[in-house]
Amino acid sequence: MDSFWNKLEKPFFVLAPMADVTDPAYRRLIAETGKPDVSWTEFVSADGLFHTREKKGMKDEENPLLRDLQYSEAERPIVAQFFSSTPEMMEYAASLALSLGFDGVDINMGCPDRSIEKQGAGAAHMKNPARAKEVIRAAIKGVQGKIPVSVKTRLGYNRFEYEEWLPQVLEEDIAALTVHLRTRKEMSLVPAHWELVPELVAIRDRVNPSVLLLANGDVKSISEAREKALATGLDGVMLGRGIFGNPWLFADRTDASPREKLEALLKLVQYFSLLTPPKHFAILKKHFKAFVNGFDGAAELRGKLMDTTELSELEPLLKEAIPLV
Ligand SMILES: Cc1cc2nc3c(=O)[nH]c(=O)nc-3n(C[C@H](O)[C@H](O)[C@H](O)COP(=O)(O)O)c2cc1C
Repeated sequence: MDSFWNKLEKPFFVLAPMADVTDPAYRRLIAETGKPDVSWTEFVSADGLFHTREKKGMKDEENPLLRDLQYSEAERPIVAQFFSSTPEMMEYAASLALSLGFDGVDINMGCPDRSIEKQGAGAAHMKNPARAKEVIRAAIKGVQGKIPVSVKTRLGYNRFEYEEWLPQVLEEDIAALTVHLRTRKEMSLVPAHWELVPELVAIRDRVNPSVLLLANGDVKSISEAREKALATGLDGVMLGRGIFGNPWLFADRTDASPREKLEALLKLVQYFSLLTPPKHFAILKKHFKAFVNGFDGAAELRGKLMDTTELSELEPLLKEAIPLV
């Protein structure tokens, strides 16, 4: 299939999906500040989308869960990520992504969260490759050959199983595969296994060379990502936590001043206020430590921001602080 994936210049650098971090507000700021080659939505429950609509008898466009599938044009290409272990639900979510204008659909097969795994989704797919394949095929059916499907997974469940697991996924008709370079058991507690990437590239080359291969884990700058991709033959690198407090990451800037950071946080607050229906404002609090630092009075301002109880209190506090920094 001819898709945005084939038009990217290699190596490419993409924004990782991070629930309650890379929400539509932060992604909009990132797209304006340092644009990734591809952006991902936070993961969204395909079953949740399906059941909410069924239960309430609503039209697709009335589903309140669509809030997490908002995006701005500036983010394109933008991929919608879903989790599910039920082919029917995945097919529905994929067809919904197509109708919402997404450029691609990604299936989460790596999330270690117990509540996701209990549903047989996320990392639990690694324990049941046959079901994983059905879910991938269902997504492919849902997008009707019009937009590409990709998968994000890990190196294995309790141990390295990439030699058996990755071929199962690569045999399917997917456009791209992202591997978070840890097992499920390792969570994010050990350094990502970059030393294994040449083996992963060899597996991809053997099983299905048409699939683009991306790796992910611990990369903190685009220069580092480029070096790693060029050294290993990867097509792309996905960056996640490096974006905390640094929406300039994809512009390869790590020298933002404290004032620039506060101005960026103010923009984030403003974009967050525009989300409809509104998202719980406590979500914003996880950004304060990363954005408010490096100047006299930073701890005090952080304290004041943390003590707020309404979204509307944030903007005046930041506007007052910015000229003084
Ligand atoms: C707060 C947070 C939320 C995450 N949410 C998702 C998610 O929704 N979907 C997903 O595939 N991975 C998710 N991840 C995993 C990241 O996409 C990425 O694989 C991981 O953080 C390792 O990359 P990094 O070291 O560049 O951050 C999340 C990670 C964090 C820290």
